[in-house]
Amino acid sequence: MSRAQPPIQSIAVIGAGIIGLSCALELADRGLAVSLYDKNDPPRGASWAAAGMLAPAFEAAVEPGTHPRLFELCDTSARMWPDWAKHLEAETGQSSGFVAGPSLAIARSPEQAAFLESVRKRLSDHSLAPAACLPRLSEIEPAATPDACAALLLPSDGHADNRATLDALMIRAQAHPNLMLRHGEAPLRMNSGALDHAGHDATLIASGWQSGQVQVDRGGETVALTLLDPIFDQITAFGGQMLAVAPVANGPRLTLRCGHVYIVPKADRIIIGATTEPGRALTKTEPDAIATLHRQAAEICPALADAPVLESWAGIRPGTRDHAPILGETGVSNLFVATGHYRNGILLAPITAQIMADLIADGQHSDLAAAFAPAARFAEQL
Ligand code: FAD
Ligand code: GLY
Repeated sequence: MSRAQPPIQSIAVIGAGIIGLSCALELADRGLAVSLYDKNDPPRGASWAAAGMLAPAFEAAVEPGTHPRLFELCDTSARMWPDWAKHLEAETGQSSGFVAGPSLAIARSPEQAAFLESVRKRLSDHSLAPAACLPRLSEIEPAATPDACAALLLPSDGHADNRATLDALMIRAQAHPNLMLRHGEAPLRMNSGALDHAGHDATLIASGWQSGQVQVDRGGETVALTLLDPIFDQITAFGGQMLAVAPVANGPRLTLRCGHVYIVPKADRIIIGATTEPGRALTKTEPDAIATLHRQAAEICPALADAPVLESWAGIRPGTRDHAPILGETGVSNLFVATGHYRNGILLAPITAQIMADLIADGQHSDLAAAFAPAARFAEQL
């Protein structure tokens, strides 16, 4: 499908997390003049706080209320990641820490085993189908607890170092001739009922969980974007607390998941996550929550029990009711949105950049992209 509008030659992108950076770079690569704004220097949003898992398989289990095409979006982006990372690394000389699958999921209760079985069944004809592997668990991951009652090897699920990836994206952005980085909020104004896009042809909102709070001057009064288009009301905060421990002897080699807890071994530390707290918009941690995660991780991987804690932090996921991002044009002329990536913004960066650039630079959107467009979402609420 195509979008019949005059071509957009310049754009203000609001938010330099992984979504804003990836979209801004793709748009700049396609020849647009891009101003990329972030109110924080350096940006320290959800993209910095994440664990960096690239885990489409976990979106495959059909849970009530989940967007029916979320897995397809995640799967498409996971397949783009290796080349996307290679290109970024070649352009910048900075590693993204990309590691291909597999990951491992284990169950320690019948409910967890049923969830793993639903993932296995749903993906049984996938080219990277997960395989039940309990009898081989101690050989595949000697660090995993021997008390698992089910285990699944997930070849599709890898990981990257999200902080290193952000650094690489920022290096590319700083060097790009079509891209200007600006510290602060964009001066967006309503003039005679139309949005003046801070002097550009268009604006892309990629401000994570704060997207609806981006401010616009309307005749001297400051209003939030939620007042201009109710789609922005659909973005809500989901807090997540995490910690990193030092690498230990006989620690895990693979990303290991069990219930809501995951363990992601990186080059220099092991990440343990995460809480999921609807409405929590805080970046400070609670010692009890961090201690609980550490204890739960040690139940999955006993070698972690005495691992020294290096760091703990909290981030804020941009959530939507169906756990899928909102990607496309809003009800305000030439105002675009790419947010609501919830648990998968690191995974979904390459496909999001492609979808938004196809739409904004080339006026095109695929059938898959259309399924995540504002107009196709939450119709009954808007
Ligand atoms: P952000 O990274 O939050 O960026 C938004 C930016 O907008 C910020 O830099 C902010 O300063 C800026 N901003 C806000 N308002 C304004 C304004 N008015 N003007 C200018 N700038 C503004 N995803 C995965 O794929 N894999 C994972 O393993 C994973 N683990 C996670 C673990 C935790 C604990 C959390 C919290 C999230 C995790 N996620 C994971 C989800 C992922 O981090 C998010 O979906 C993703 O980072 C969202 O990216 P973003 O660019 O939209 O938002
Ligand atoms: N994707 C992991 C998390 O959001 O905690």
